[in-house]
Amino acid sequence: MNPLRVGIVGAGNISAIYCENLSKFPSTELVAISDLDGARAKAQAEKFDIEAWLVDDLLASSDIDLVLNITIPKAHGEVAIQALQAGKHVYNEKPLAISREDCKTMLSLASSKGLRVGCAPDTFLGAAHQRVRQLIDSGAIGVPVAVHGFMTSRGVESWHPNPEFFYKPGAGPMLDMGPYYLTAFVNMFGSVQRLASMTRTTFPERTITSEPFKGQVIKVETPTTFVTALQFSSGVVGQLTTSFDTHSFPGQPNIVVYGSEGTMVVPDPNSFNGWNEPSSKIIVRRGNGEEEIFVSDLPFKMNSRGLGILDIAHAVAEGRDHRASGSLAFHVLDTMLAAIESSDESQFITPSTQPDRPSLIGADEFPDERDLMG
Ligand SMILES: NC(=O)c1ccc[n+]([C@@H]2O[C@H](COP(=O)([O-])OP(=O)(O)OC[C@H]3O[C@@H](n4cnc5c(N)ncnc54)[C@H](O)[C@@H]3O)[C@@H](O)[C@H]2O)c1
Repeated sequence: MNPLRVGIVGAGNISAIYCENLSKFPSTELVAISDLDGARAKAQAEKFDIEAWLVDDLLASSDIDLVLNITIPKAHGEVAIQALQAGKHVYNEKPLAISREDCKTMLSLASSKGLRVGCAPDTFLGAAHQRVRQLIDSGAIGVPVAVHGFMTSRGVESWHPNPEFFYKPGAGPMLDMGPYYLTAFVNMFGSVQRLASMTRTTFPERTITSEPFKGQVIKVETPTTFVTALQFSSGVVGQLTTSFDTHSFPGQPNIVVYGSEGTMVVPDPNSFNGWNEPSSKIIVRRGNGEEEIFVSDLPFKMNSRGLGILDIAHAVAEGRDHRASGSLAFHVLDTMLAAIESSDESQFITPSTQPDRPSLIGADEFPDERDLMG
């Protein structure tokens, strides 16, 4: 199979791990990188021995098959639509876009042109969450009944070099971190059938303490704490708390799944194998008090960002669906926007999108890459 030729738009903080992995996978070829800030693109290009191009040149180039769009959330829709119009497959960082309209435009352009739309997160394809899904599907905790997800942090202005966008519409703790949890939930329990949410904004302003914008004040324009109740197509009910206003406590789990025969502590969905990569644990405590610990022996334990693009490369060659898909990411965005609307309107909302669960990765897939990433 010919490698899928990838061009990156957005040479910021997250671009390094994509450059590293996409250069490493035999099924992808990293060709060029671009950014509104040409110096940033040039620096990453030099580091990874690729080309630095202007954004418009990259989008127009016949040497690129897929545009990896890792710009800031409010530019995700515009850049992806331009790339699709230029005949390229697209893979966006999360969220897919910040409006439902942009998502619909992307998916309909892709369908009319025979192109793929993919979107982060692809962590649910990693060793931990693939194993969790196998365990749940095989009845390890009996009938899955309920799920709790916890993403509590005090925000990002202490570490991110450019934290402003996190406090604007299109980000906040739900649109920024919710995709990891909601994608993991959909992978486990099917699409969200309805939800009800309550939100608050605890601090109207944030002072940046990281460099280089130390001392600058950000006006907060998005809710910064969400508590959301969810019901999934499998009948599982759950709760997701996402906050940039609070702190976690030692040992706080990221996700707990409660079943009729036991309870499962699930590794961090913002990681391919939990934070203790490569040996994080899935803990199952049964009704009789027995505890069993599973360490996943599946591939992709290391930070495998770009695995969703690798899956697109193989899906295109094999004529099958890819897993970190635009329709899954649209559903996740639809759900997150509904969480804001539900709180504003004090009512249950049924998302308009209902994708199927993505398929599990088979034991014979990605033969050239499965041993590369632990
Ligand atoms: N930083 C992380 O740890 C992290 C982790 C996972 C996902 N993400 C996601 O990745 C995306 C990028 O995050 P980041 O942390 O790298 O942000 P960043 O601010 O460090 O980088 C974004 C880059 O995109 C460029 N850009 C913005 N609009 C553009 C446009 N229209 N055309 C071309 N370039 C444009 C900016 O100049 C900047 O260099 C976001 O969607 C974020 O949610 C980030």
